[in-house]
Amino acid sequence: MKLLIFVTLFTIFSSGLASAAIVAGTYFDRIVAVIFENQDYSKAIKSTYLTSLYNSPEGVLLTNYDAVGHPSEPNYVAMIYGSTAGITDDGDYNITGQNLIDLLEARSITWKAYMENYTCGVCFTGDFCPAGTDLYARKHNPFISMEDINTNPTRCAKIVDSSQLDIDISNNQVPQYVMYVPNQQDDGHDTSLSTAMTWFQGWFDARKNNPNFNTNTLFFFVWDEAVTSKTNQVAAVLYGTPVKPPSNNQDSTAYTHYSFLAGVEKNWNLGNLGRNDATATPFTKYLVHP
Ligand SMILES: *[C@@H]1O[C@H](CO)[C@@H](O)[C@H](O)[C@H]1NC(C)=O
Ligand SMILES: *[C@@H]1O[C@H](CO)[C@@H](O)[C@H](O)[C@H]1NC(C)=O
Repeated sequence: MKLLIFVTLFTIFSSGLASAAIVAGTYFDRIVAVIFENQDYSKAIKSTYLTSLYNSPEGVLLTNYDAVGHPSEPNYVAMIYGSTAGITDDGDYNITGQNLIDLLEARSITWKAYMENYTCGVCFTGDFCPAGTDLYARKHNPFISMEDINTNPTRCAKIVDSSQLDIDISNNQVPQYVMYVPNQQDDGHDTSLSTAMTWFQGWFDARKNNPNFNTNTLFFFVWDEAVTSKTNQVAAVLYGTPVKPPSNNQDSTAYTHYSFLAGVEKNWNLGNLGRNDATATPFTKYLVHP
């Protein structure tokens, strides 16, 4: 009998360890960012599905959010590195110096990058995958261009094919920092806004009410860059139970991709990388921990 009680207590205690490993944030305990491609703010915000998210009681539209470069790659690099690293094309680079992953791991905050069609192997550094397609594109994967990730097999293993997400959801193992990068059809790059938003609705509606995914989770939806906007203004939406929106569901604060990075840093008191993230305004104005 004593043994049974001990075993029962041990089971309760050890299942509690999984949640104890969560590093509580000031505003949210998990962030899930999904990055779309190549669209002006004015068009993206008219998407019926996106509108339904930012106009909900858990949504806010950032009405003054600018991308930081052209073409794609410098924008993705900015989100985790705090600068464009001088990149002005979509080439292959090994970027040195600290990035967000160093700050997260220093605080034991778990992370993964879910890349659609990243099925060509752990630490795959090629430009496209699967062979003969341009579905996965390295230019949209900033993690693999960080030298302290692409030379570290343990870190490389955190860049996974997106099919891993549903496995992680069902095991309640979704990390605390998630970047989800759809392939070049689902993100609108090779298709259209309406194709991307149809994919997005199917993907998000199937998962957004799952407590293994949404508990204290801030969802962040953003486009990498604008097409015609002179200021490179893009649509950006915060969604989830940490969002306490104003009555018009809009935040007109001036933000950039560096605000995304600064928001993550501020949430977990990570400090900063000493680049543009050090001075960017974090997008926390309408966030309150649930
Ligand atoms: C990046 O580093 C890898 C491994 O050291 C090397 O094979 C590759 O050529 C480098 N790429 C560039 C663009 O320097
Ligand atoms: C690409 O990834 C998507 C999403 O996981 C999947 O549905 C599709 O079958 C993949 N396509 C190829 C050619 O592997």
